Amino acid sequence: MSGTVILKFHPGYKPSRVNAAMSEAVAGLDGVESVDMYALYPHEPDLHAAEDAEVERLFAAKRLCVQFPVHWFAATPRAMAWQDLVLNRITFDKPEEGERLKGLPFMIAATAGQSEDSYQAGHANLYPLEQLLRPWEVTAKQCGYEWHEPFLAYGADDYDDEDVARVAKDFATHIEGWKPE
Ligand SMILES: Cc1cc2nc3c(=O)[nH]c(=O)nc-3n(C[C@H](O)[C@H](O)[C@H](O)COP(=O)(O)O)c2cc1C
Repeated sequence: MSGTVILKFHPGYKPSRVNAAMSEAVAGLDGVESVDMYALYPHEPDLHAAEDAEVERLFAAKRLCVQFPVHWFAATPRAMAWQDLVLNRITFDKPEEGERLKGLPFMIAATAGQSEDSYQAGHANLYPLEQLLRPWEVTAKQCGYEWHEPFLAYGADDYDDEDVARVAKDFATHIEGWKPE
């Protein structure tokens, strides 16, 4: 059993500061496996070739966190490709595999470049980020996973070094304390 598995999907269009620091902060934590999915699978076919291994990774997980920077008010492309590949397989093609994962605690960790204020009615982004992430919640429900409130960091594009360090530490504390059974 791996304990907590974090699948990070950061495409690195420009070098990551915040998500990179978050990964560093959890790297030494006992029972936490953080996987840089874009580094591991630079091209989408690489991910497809590893389908069996990614399903096995879920079987070994006690908890699953999917981490990404918000891009165009959604997750990044490889996160969606992972859904299409792994969740399609265990839901539709091999539901007996999906059965084994029922009850898996599931959490999103997302960083947004824009401010929390911008994510509300009447403001630039119209809706709270939690609402924009609802498809993940519904997906978790459909898969039989146990939804946990997302870890969200706003205004990430304006962070100074202190902010980056603070969010990374908060994330590590959150992950360390995330022990639903
Ligand atoms: C292609 C692209 C699309 C983005 N779309 C959004 C968005 O829809 N909303 C938002 O708040 N930030 C958006 N951002 C900003 C990123 O979310 C932000 O740069 C990232 O969370 C910072 O984390 P990092 O330092 O790990 O890259 C976007 C950035 C890029 C490169």
